Amino acid sequence: MRYFSLEKLINLYDGYRKTFKIDEHHLLLIQEEGVRFLVESFCPHREHSLMDAIIFGDTISCPHHNYQFHLSSGDVLQRSEEPCRKLRIYELVEEGREVGVLL
Ligand code: FES
Repeated sequence: MRYFSLEKLINLYDGYRKTFKIDEHHLLLIQEEGVRFLVESFCPHREHSLMDAIIFGDTISCPHHNYQFHLSSGDVLQRSEEPCRKLRIYELVEEGREVGVLL
């Protein structure tokens, strides 16, 4: 595994969202209410961007068809009749004055 730097801690704030592409990984870094999440940036349902997703507590809701995923486990919490795999969740690593990910 290799460490990839994503963002300086000083640049993170509530409402922060930014996408990253590292090799085949499409990542979305989010901070809401002081909590940071790193998830895949495309919805597992139909691959729409999660950049405009709604976060409430530990749930992320895709605005396109309102599928909801748990931000810690990636479990599907709400969906229509169309099945959907879990959301990929990545562990954020704090390294000095920045956050990154091990891939
Ligand atoms: S693309 Fe996200 S819910 Fe359908």
